[in-house]
Amino acid sequence: MKVVVVGSGGREHGLAEVLGRSAEVLVTPGNPGIPGATSAPVEELVADGSVDLVVVGPEAPLVDGLADRLRAQGRRVFGPGADGAQLEGSKAFMKQLAVDAGLPTARHGAFADVEPALEFLRTLPGLYVVKTDGLAAGKGVLVTESLAEAEADVRDKLSGSSFGEAGRRVVIEEGLTGPEVSVFAVCDGHRSVCLPPAQDFKRVGDGDIGPNTGGIGAWSPLPFLEADFADVAAERFVAPTLAALQARGIDYRGALYAGFMVTPEGPKLLEYNVRFGDPDSQPVLLRMTSDLAELLAAAADGDLTAVAAPTFSDDVAVLVVACSEGYPGTPRTGDVIEGWDAAAAVPGVTVLSAGVGADADGRRITAGGRVLDVIGRGPDAATARARAYEAVACLSWPGMHHRTDIAAG
Ligand code: AMP
Ligand code: GLY
Repeated sequence: MKVVVVGSGGREHGLAEVLGRSAEVLVTPGNPGIPGATSAPVEELVADGSVDLVVVGPEAPLVDGLADRLRAQGRRVFGPGADGAQLEGSKAFMKQLAVDAGLPTARHGAFADVEPALEFLRTLPGLYVVKTDGLAAGKGVLVTESLAEAEADVRDKLSGSSFGEAGRRVVIEEGLTGPEVSVFAVCDGHRSVCLPPAQDFKRVGDGDIGPNTGGIGAWSPLPFLEADFADVAAERFVAPTLAALQARGIDYRGALYAGFMVTPEGPKLLEYNVRFGDPDSQPVLLRMTSDLAELLAAAADGDLTAVAAPTFSDDVAVLVVACSEGYPGTPRTGDVIEGWDAAAAVPGVTVLSAGVGADADGRRITAGGRVLDVIGRGPDAATARARAYEAVACLSWPGMHHRTDIAAG
C-alpha cells in the first residue's frame, strides 16, 4: 500500500513510523527529521492515481475541507470532511451535539455577548472554564478558581483582543476535576474501534503548574483505569456521537479524539478533536502490533468490519517532549540540535521529529516549540520512563527544557 500523510509534526512522524511497518509512506510537507518528507503538495502526490490512502494529521486542513476536496476527486481519505470537523472547529457545535447525543459532559453555555456570559459565569459553583469557540491551537482555554480572572478573560476573548475572531464567541463551562485521559476512536462513519487510552500532560511545569501547552508528555496504557475503559468510551460516547452525526447527514470517517475527565461520577467528555492527539497518540500507535494502514484504509472505505480488531503489545510507552526556550510562549528557534543520534541509540527508545528544520549546511535545527518527542518503551512504566529520560539527557540546545515528572506517579 502507498500512503500519504499530511502534516509536519511529531504526530505525523509517529503515523509515518507505524504505517511504514506495512506500507510505503510519504509525508507532506513533513519536516527535515521525518523520513519520506516531501515538499510536493498532497494534490500533486495523488494526481497519478498511485496513492492508496491519504491520512490527514492536523485539524486545520480538515476544518478547511481538504478531505472533501480529495474525496471529490475519488481519493481514499482517512479524516472527516469539513462538516464533521466542526466537532473541533466549533466548541459550541461540539457541546450541542454532546447534549443531543446524551453524553455526560460539563454544564455549559455559548455566548457572543458579554453580559449574558458574565451572568452565566456567576451561576457556576467555583471552578470556571472559559473557551474560545473557534480554533486556538490548544491555547484558548482558561481554567481558574478566580471569578474575577474568568470575567476578565470573557471580556478579552469576546472583544477579539486576545484570540481574534476565534474568541468572538465563547463557551463557558463548569470546571470538572479528576484525571484527564485521551481515547482515540477510529471511525468508519457508522462504527468505531477505540484504541487503548493515553494520558497527556498539558501544563508546562512539573507538578502541573504554569501555562497550558499543546501537550508535552504522554503515556499509555494507563494503570489507573478499568481495563474496559476504551470499550465503555466506544459504547457510551462514540457510538451515540456517530449516530448524532449521521442524523445531521455527516458521515464521519477518521480519528475521533475524545478527551475525558474521569470524575467521581464516571467519565465526562471534555472535548472532541477530529484527529489523533499530538503527542498523546504516539505512545498508543507505537504499541500497535496489527496493521495500522489496513485499519485506516478500512475506516476510509466506510467498513471497519473488513478488518480484525487492532492489537497492541502489553509494554508501556512513555513520551517526553524536548521543548525550545520560551515555549509555550514564542519559542526561540534556529539552534542546532545536539545528541539526536545518541538519544535514538538508547535501547527501547524512538525519537520523533516534531518542530525541526535544517540549516544551510543540512544540520538539524530547532524550528518550533515542541522540537522532539522522545519515547521510551519497556515492560513497566518505571523502565519505559528511565529509558525516555536517559535519551532526553543526551539532547541539548540553548534553552532546551522538558518536564521531569511524566508518568512519575
Ligand atoms: P479543550 O481545548 O476543550 O480540550 O480544553 C483544554 C484543556 O482545558 C483540557 O485538556 C482540560 O485540561 C481543560 N479543561 C477543559 N474543559 C474543562 C472543564 N470543564 N473542567 C476542567 N478542565 C477543563
Ligand atoms: N495533546 C492534545 C491534542 O492533541 O489536542
